[in-house]
Amino acid sequence: MLTTKEAIEKRRSIRKYKPDPIPDEHLRELLNSARLAPSGCNAQPWRFKIVKEEGIKARLAEAAYDQAFISQAPVVIICCADVQGYLDGTVSGAQDLGKIGAIEDRIVTILQGRAKNLETIERNELGPRIAANVAIAIEHIVLRALDFGVGSCWIRLIDEQKVRELFGWSDNIYVVALLPIGYPAEFPEARKRLKLNDILLD
Ligand SMILES: Cc1cc2nc3c(=O)[nH]c(=O)nc-3n(C[C@H](O)[C@H](O)[C@H](O)COP(=O)(O)O)c2cc1C
Repeated sequence: MLTTKEAIEKRRSIRKYKPDPIPDEHLRELLNSARLAPSGCNAQPWRFKIVKEEGIKARLAEAAYDQAFISQAPVVIICCADVQGYLDGTVSGAQDLGKIGAIEDRIVTILQGRAKNLETIERNELGPRIAANVAIAIEHIVLRALDFGVGSCWIRLIDEQKVRELFGWSDNIYVVALLPIGYPAEFPEARKRLKLNDILLD
């Protein structure tokens, strides 16, 4: 088992995979690590679809502007936000947080008011606003996967609507990213990063 520091430092985006399947209990463990992520008002808007079928993986690669390596991964996790789930979860989650005294009643009212206002906004505008919550859950998966020797690559360059249509999902579901995962068949060097000084604002 890696320490958090080791996982963060060893992780790479992996774009070549061995064909070996990933055991279901490991997949379950990855989804469980997503489940435990923090979210605004504890709304937990993340939803996932596990894809192993060759034909569907090929369609996903196509929807990702022909990034062919996606279809070579044994599993692709489609990482989504449930817009209505987010709105409902915000209202009840804020109430729960208020009840246990984690946030003041004043903040509960503000958060619930905001969720109500968001109801009037187009679904396809709301999806991207919720995406930050799902992104945290995705990165939990990415880092936990390293404990099983499993690599992954975030894929955000996607035709979001095409992915949705593939499954007949309504615009209540916003596709945040694809996450192909598998045992690495490449071991890339660390990619360039900005220096600490470069990421500090004055
Ligand atoms: C939000 C996001 C979107 C990304 N989209 C893609 C993508 O569509 N295709 C791809 O090959 N890599 C994608 N990547 C991977 C990045 O290219 C990669 O993280 C970056 O080059 C740094 O390399 P490293 O992850 O190996 O450290 C994405 C990463 C993130 C976080």
